[in-house]
Amino acid sequence: MFLTISFFIFSLLSLSHASVVDFCVADYNAPNGPAGYSCKTPKKVTADDFVFHGLATSGNTTNIIKAAVTPAFDAQFPGVNGLGISIARLDLAAAGFIPLHTHPGASEVLVVIQGTILAGFVSSADVVYIKTLNKGDVMVFPQGLVHFQINSGRSNALAFVSFSSANPGLQILDFALFKSDFPTELITATTFLDADLVKKLKGVLGGSG
Ligand SMILES: *[C@@H]1O[C@H](CO)[C@@H](O)[C@H](O)[C@H]1NC(C)=O
Repeated sequence: MFLTISFFIFSLLSLSHASVVDFCVADYNAPNGPAGYSCKTPKKVTADDFVFHGLATSGNTTNIIKAAVTPAFDAQFPGVNGLGISIARLDLAAAGFIPLHTHPGASEVLVVIQGTILAGFVSSADVVYIKTLNKGDVMVFPQGLVHFQINSGRSNALAFVSFSSANPGLQILDFALFKSDFPTELITATTFLDADLVKKLKGVLGGSG
């Protein structure tokens, strides 16, 4: 009896540490900060704030990576603000790929809906984990680690990826180096790449410097 009562009181105390609001739908008219958007006045929140229609159609894969990521992060989907979750749609045309990248703010879980995807990540210990994923397969990518996805089938591939943050962040390694104005002499000084290769890749991706 004492244990039961103790547990009950403990449960109440634990609950008292939970968030005091049910949700914090993004108010796009107020400033955004590191913790996300300000909360929309609950009276103005409607069911539509918790529903996102943008993942129903495929993204435009006519681009250099033959792939498209359609995000439903806090900036697009007001209902996920403050919940620590988000989702995106991944379309990969034949030979499409998502270049080596990291999400500084979130772990990721990917589920293949159609096609075959070769995916992998590299750990902090420089161990590489690679797997071919088929329809229905799920793979996780731990927070902050560089990872990639490649369409390894002959037809289009479709996957949905969800994140442990409403704003997972995205940094693409090749874009940071070769799509930016990072001076070539500093890239060669801070990597093992030679200047000719750096300039060639900047030409391909549109970087300068
Ligand atoms: C897809 O993107 C390409 C390149 O930006 C563009 O030319 C094309 O019109 C787009 N297609 C659609 C259906 O929006």
